[in-house]
Amino acid sequence: MFGENEKNISKLKDFWIEFFAGRRDGGHRSSTEEFISMEAKEKLFHLDGGKTLLDFGCGAGELLVYYAPEYEQLVGVDFSVSMLDEASKKIRERKCENISLIQADDKTVWDKLECSFDRITAAGVVQYLTLQEIDSFIFNASNFLNKDGKIVLFDILDPRLYPLWKIGLFSQDAGIWNILRKIGFEFKVILSASLNNRPRDILGFAHNPNVVKKIADKYNFETTFVKSMYYEYKYHAIISQN
Ligand SMILES: C[S@@+](CC[C@H](N)C(=O)[O-])C[C@H]1O[C@@H](n2cnc3c(N)ncnc32)[C@H](O)[C@@H]1O
Repeated sequence: MFGENEKNISKLKDFWIEFFAGRRDGGHRSSTEEFISMEAKEKLFHLDGGKTLLDFGCGAGELLVYYAPEYEQLVGVDFSVSMLDEASKKIRERKCENISLIQADDKTVWDKLECSFDRITAAGVVQYLTLQEIDSFIFNASNFLNKDGKIVLFDILDPRLYPLWKIGLFSQDAGIWNILRKIGFEFKVILSASLNNRPRDILGFAHNPNVVKKIADKYNFETTFVKSMYYEYKYHAIISQN
């Protein structure tokens, strides 16, 4: 029998599956090639080499196709069929013959993998996982990581900055009335989400870096945190074998 916690996690997972069904892009700040290629360059810098890469939650493959020239073999994983369709299209257009795609989620992916990897990464995905799911993800990933491998979790929402960004504190028109208006709007959104039993935010959960570090410590990893270059309220966790 499922415990209350498992039931809630499973309900949330169903919500996100439905949310991403039919979506065809990763919701980057800009979807221009110029912007995505800059984002990919930043991420390749932090991925710091390796020959094989697993991109968990690869979405429409927007970053994956930029990673492809730098790796021998890449696997993209996502639970959304529409996202994977879009990724397939991009892979064909760009003739990235070294990428394969798998439809799976954070639980089922591990049984579908045929090899281990030098890098296991996820960009903009951790926010859709609970802390318990992040713990299982890091544990499972550690069993599919080659020697000197790294798990690199990109674009985690920072709970210390995200609320400030949402109320417009970082925007150019951050006057007091605009901020108060946004606080009012956020309040209504939160109220409606809790009345309708939905996650408060369609961007998912913000996770404190200290908590992410504690999970990684448990599996004997060393963690370095880096601020995202392109999103004021996001950070990256680079989790390396000790
Ligand atoms: C914000 S998009 C980012 C896509 C891509 N990484 C990028 O940066 O362009 C998040 C992706 O994670 C996928 N995703 C979220 N939770 C997942 C889970 N538990 N298992 C598999 N895929 C998941 C969604 O379907 C979506 O494609």
